[in-house]
Amino acid sequence: MIKLLCVFIVALGAINASVVKRETIHDKGTHLLVCEQEPIELGIVLDSSVSIDRKDFKKGKEFLQDFLQQFEIGGGDRDVRVSIITFGKGIYPEDGFNLTKYTDKDELIAAIGNIPHRLGRYTSTGEGIEYMATAQLASQFTRSWAERVGLVITDGNSQESAKTKEAARQARESGITMFAIGVGNVKDQELVNIAGDASRVFKVDSYDELENIKQTLAHQTCIRQLKTTTPPPQTVCGEANPADIYFVFSPAELGLEGTSWATSLIGSLIKQEQMEEGFRFGVVSGSCPDDEGFNLDEYSNVSDIETRLSTYAASRMSALVDRVSGNDFYGTTGGRSGAQDVAVLVSSGGKRSRRLQAEVDRLRNEGVEVFVADISGSGISFEGATTLTGATYKDVALNLVTQLCPTRN
Ligand SMILES: *[C@@H]1O[C@H](CO)[C@@H](O)[C@H](O)[C@H]1NC(C)=O
Ligand SMILES: *[C@@H]1O[C@H](CO)[C@@H](O)[C@H](O)[C@H]1NC(C)=O
Repeated sequence: MIKLLCVFIVALGAINASVVKRETIHDKGTHLLVCEQEPIELGIVLDSSVSIDRKDFKKGKEFLQDFLQQFEIGGGDRDVRVSIITFGKGIYPEDGFNLTKYTDKDELIAAIGNIPHRLGRYTSTGEGIEYMATAQLASQFTRSWAERVGLVITDGNSQESAKTKEAARQARESGITMFAIGVGNVKDQELVNIAGDASRVFKVDSYDELENIKQTLAHQTCIRQLKTTTPPPQTVCGEANPADIYFVFSPAELGLEGTSWATSLIGSLIKQEQMEEGFRFGVVSGSCPDDEGFNLDEYSNVSDIETRLSTYAASRMSALVDRVSGNDFYGTTGGRSGAQDVAVLVSSGGKRSRRLQAEVDRLRNEGVEVFVADISGSGISFEGATTLTGATYKDVALNLVTQLCPTRN
């Protein structure tokens, strides 16, 4: 005699949605703009020559400090990194820093405040751009997935405009997007030569334009999202309708394929989001009936043997249902007094299933809600039980979820 009884309880925890750190959400009235920062290597080229007066030099630095506030500065893959080179009479690498120097935004912004105004009596803009493009933002120093951006802050009064233009052209050709920000008494043509296009030229004095450049350079990928009114707090299905659910099936009756269908159905059901809380699951199955067979001399005619044989099929589900309708919905196997008792009888359909009505009746008498999952989809139905329909075990699982979690108004 082999009797297998397998009862297991599956407890499912809630899944925490991961928080997206860098997302910023802008309210645009009719919709929301959800934006995420793109990684950037930002190479700043700052004019420290005498043609820019103290006030304008300070203005340029303040612009930078304000501008950098919007970025995620750091050493991470998605962060923005910043380098600076200043120039006047030649370049001043000792006043600047390379991309890896600052991983903290506050430190970076403080360091920019400390950059000295050299009052160089020459304006080596081309040299500054060349240093930025070849020593600081060259591909061997930068992350291949990050956009490289050159930001030149100058009045555009270099004495070597051809060299400036050529250095900027080479920087752009190497893949660096060039912007020019004008401070002081600006020579527009040189700014355009640096940026390569008037659309990437801005003036520090114009606050409207500064807002513009902030947005242009923010390099955010944004998606529009429709506004939704705040959804009412959802009632967790299992809180309103807790249930202890037993699946009952006989592998002997279902065969290998049918048994696999039954276990897939259970697997599919317990993975449904609505099943996360308030439900407990058990399985009653086994090589039933508990029948030891009969000896050679027990029956003397065919009809008696047939009658006996027919009890096998009948007693399979019957013996299993015995387990469910006994104490299994109560204390000892995890049953809860406040939960609806539910039995899902998995049937292969066909003739044998006709005997299920008796089992349905027994369970119903004990207050158990009964569902019948018919593998064959033959359309069987039993009084007092709900037949679960669906082309695949997944559909059947979803059908069961719908039955267990009625939508409430
Ligand atoms: C920046 O990198 C260059 C090499 O590309 C190096 O020559 C220079 O010393 C570095 N500067 C600092 C401040 O580390
Ligand atoms: C079969 O045998 C049993 C006794 O073992 C007897 O009672 C029954 O009438 C028999 N049935 C037939 C159809 O001969």
